[in-house]
Amino acid sequence: MPIKLGVLVSGRGTNLQSIIDKSVSSLIAAEVAIVISDKPNAYALTRAREAGVPAMYIDPRTDKPILTGEAEDDYIRFLKDCHVNLVCLAGFMRILKGKFIREFKWKIMNIHPALLPSFRGLSAQKQALDRGVRFSGATVHFVTENVDKGPIILQAVVPVYQDDTEESLSKRILLEEHRIYAEAIDLFAKGQLEVRDNRVIIGGGNG
Ligand code: GAR
Repeated sequence: MPIKLGVLVSGRGTNLQSIIDKSVSSLIAAEVAIVISDKPNAYALTRAREAGVPAMYIDPRTDKPILTGEAEDDYIRFLKDCHVNLVCLAGFMRILKGKFIREFKWKIMNIHPALLPSFRGLSAQKQALDRGVRFSGATVHFVTENVDKGPIILQAVVPVYQDDTEESLSKRILLEEHRIYAEAIDLFAKGQLEVRDNRVIIGGGNG
């Protein structure tokens, strides 16, 4: 039986699309049960609906970048009602705090467009270009209260070229994001991920 995913999005949803496509083709042992956006016009919602996946906008009811209060309760309730086994942040631009993290302990993953712990936060690809690194990449990690600091599950490296723009580097990284996010979800679904001392042991579960 595939596990059930709840995918949280804010934008165009290419990571969501990749997860849906791989799920439909049975390339991962997971299916998307619900997509929730904090932005009413996120293209990710259209992608979900076109794929026949339930999708909804839940108003975060704050100008702050943090999910709190009644909105946080609503997100938790809808995910629980859908019996979600894993919450995947796919370009979800809001910070999750205490209550949400406790409800889904070690059951929330995020994809970040850099090799963490370098270039946390926003515009990670631009940060990498500005710093002049020769390599960057993508990281899938479990989400904790410390933004972009949770235990690392998988990473992929891409070269940074001297004539790269933010757009060209982002494109190269995105291909790797799609690949490693699916792989991390599949490992989770097969019980292959265990967190020990803030590190992820692969193959440590009962799968
Ligand atoms: C992706 O590059 C993802 O890594 C990034 O937002 C983009 C979403 O694209 N996430 C973050 O920067 C989180 N800090 P998508 O909507 O096409 O999947």
